[in-house]
Amino acid sequence: MEYIKIKNADQIVKNSIYIIDNPTAFKGKWKNVFKNNNPIDLQLGMGRGDFIIEMAKAYPNRNFIGLENNESKMVNAIKKLEFLKLPNLKLICIDAQKIDQIFNKEIDTIYLTFSEPWPKKIDEKKRFTHINYLKLYDKVFKKKKHIILKTDNKILFAYSLETLSNYWYTFKRVSLDLHNDENKIPNIMTNYEKQYFKEKRPIFYLDAIFED
Ligand SMILES: C[S@@+](CC[C@H](N)C(=O)[O-])C[C@H]1O[C@@H](n2cnc3c(N)ncnc32)[C@H](O)[C@@H]1O
Repeated sequence: MEYIKIKNADQIVKNSIYIIDNPTAFKGKWKNVFKNNNPIDLQLGMGRGDFIIEMAKAYPNRNFIGLENNESKMVNAIKKLEFLKLPNLKLICIDAQKIDQIFNKEIDTIYLTFSEPWPKKIDEKKRFTHINYLKLYDKVFKKKKHIILKTDNKILFAYSLETLSNYWYTFKRVSLDLHNDENKIPNIMTNYEKQYFKEKRPIFYLDAIFED
């Protein structure tokens, strides 16, 4: 997908009312940020933000946080928010590896959508479903853990099914073709997904939970 570096992205990001630019200060206090006790859902690597913005509009009784480490992509999301008032949405510009410095047992659902597959063995630890990430998620989830993943990448999907089940997650739903599944799954498309949908590429989907 085309990627353009935006001039002054760091300034635009810093000045947006949607951005929390010192997220570590709110560790354990995110309900104060949203001023309610509603569930908080987190998307890792939100890209240009269509998914998290549409989720925040569709589910006003949940709170959403979009995390992205690329400032230029963050600017794309901020621009879409200019004329919207979404009190249940915040954005943070930071590396996903730092989420344990930002949240303490506060997250209800983590969305992993079209994450980089990192196909080389040497990069395996960068995959968002690597065991190291699953251990990191333990620190941010409330008691129950809930991960929703979508990807067009068969290898990443198979890998994620394996790492999650080896870590005792169970699967509420799995689909090998989300858009044509005979049991319809409620879905809001991400930026990448819109492109793949046009190209008629099958999207793999899983909804995994872990509860004691
Ligand atoms: C392939 S894009 C998918 C974007 C979006 N989730 C979608 O479905 O359209 C992956 C995104 O994850 C971001 N990303 C990759 N690794 C990251 C990390 N460690 N922390 C935060 N964001 C990351 C990239 O900058 C990129 O925007």
